[in-house]
Amino acid sequence: MVNLGDIFPNFEAETTIGKINFHDWLGDLWGVLFSHPADFTPVCTTELARVVQLQSEFEKRGVKVIALSCDPVETHRKWLNDIKVYAGCSTEGFPYPIIADEDRKLSTSLQMIDPDERDADGIPLTARAVFIIDPRKRMRLSILYPATTGRNFSEILRVIDSLQLTDKHKVATPVDWKPQEHVMVQPSVSDEEVKTLFPLLTIVALPSGKNYIRKTPHP
Ligand code: BEZ
Repeated sequence: MVNLGDIFPNFEAETTIGKINFHDWLGDLWGVLFSHPADFTPVCTTELARVVQLQSEFEKRGVKVIALSCDPVETHRKWLNDIKVYAGCSTEGFPYPIIADEDRKLSTSLQMIDPDERDADGIPLTARAVFIIDPRKRMRLSILYPATTGRNFSEILRVIDSLQLTDKHKVATPVDWKPQEHVMVQPSVSDEEVKTLFPLLTIVALPSGKNYIRKTPHP
C-alpha cells in the first residue's frame, strides 16, 4: 500500500504512446494517475472527455495526466475518437496517454481493483482511483470511487491548487475553498510568528476563547 507522503512506486507500462517508465515520463512535473473500469463504457467516456477538456488547466499547473484500465492498447486507441468527439475536441492526437494493464499487475499492486466489478470472464476490473504525485514523486492524494460513480475532475484541480499553495505558504485551505478565497494559518505557526508572516490576519472569536481560527487573504 502506498501512503500519503510515500515515494510513488516506479513502473514500466504499455500505453497509447508506447512503453513508458513512469518516473521518467513524469520528469520534474506533478502527475495525476487515474484508472477507470473499462473502455467503451458510458461513465468512463464522460470522465476521460472531461479530462480532455481540462487539459489546459492541468498544463497551467504543471501537471501531467495519465489514465489506466485493464483493456489492451488497441482497444484504448479505438476508443480515443469517441472520447474526443464526446468532449467536443477537434485537435489532432490525444492530449494524454492511457496505460494498458491487461495482466492487472500494476492495478493490483496499487490497490486500484474493485472486487465487485468484473469483466465477461469474471476477472475483477479497476475502480475509479486517482493518485496525485508531486515533483519529488511523493503521493499527495489518493481517492477510490466505485465504478457506478463518476468523479469530479474540477475537485482534482482544486486539490492541486491547494497542495501547490500550501507547499509554498504556512496555510491550509478550508471547506469548499476556491482559489483567491481566504485561507487558514496552519496551527503550527506560533502567535509571535503569525503577525510577521500574515499581517492581514483576522482571528475568529469562539466560545472556547481559543484563537485557532486564523484567517488570512490568499497569499
Ligand atoms: C461506466 O463507465 O459507465 C461503467 C463501467 C463499469 C460499471 C458501471 C459503469
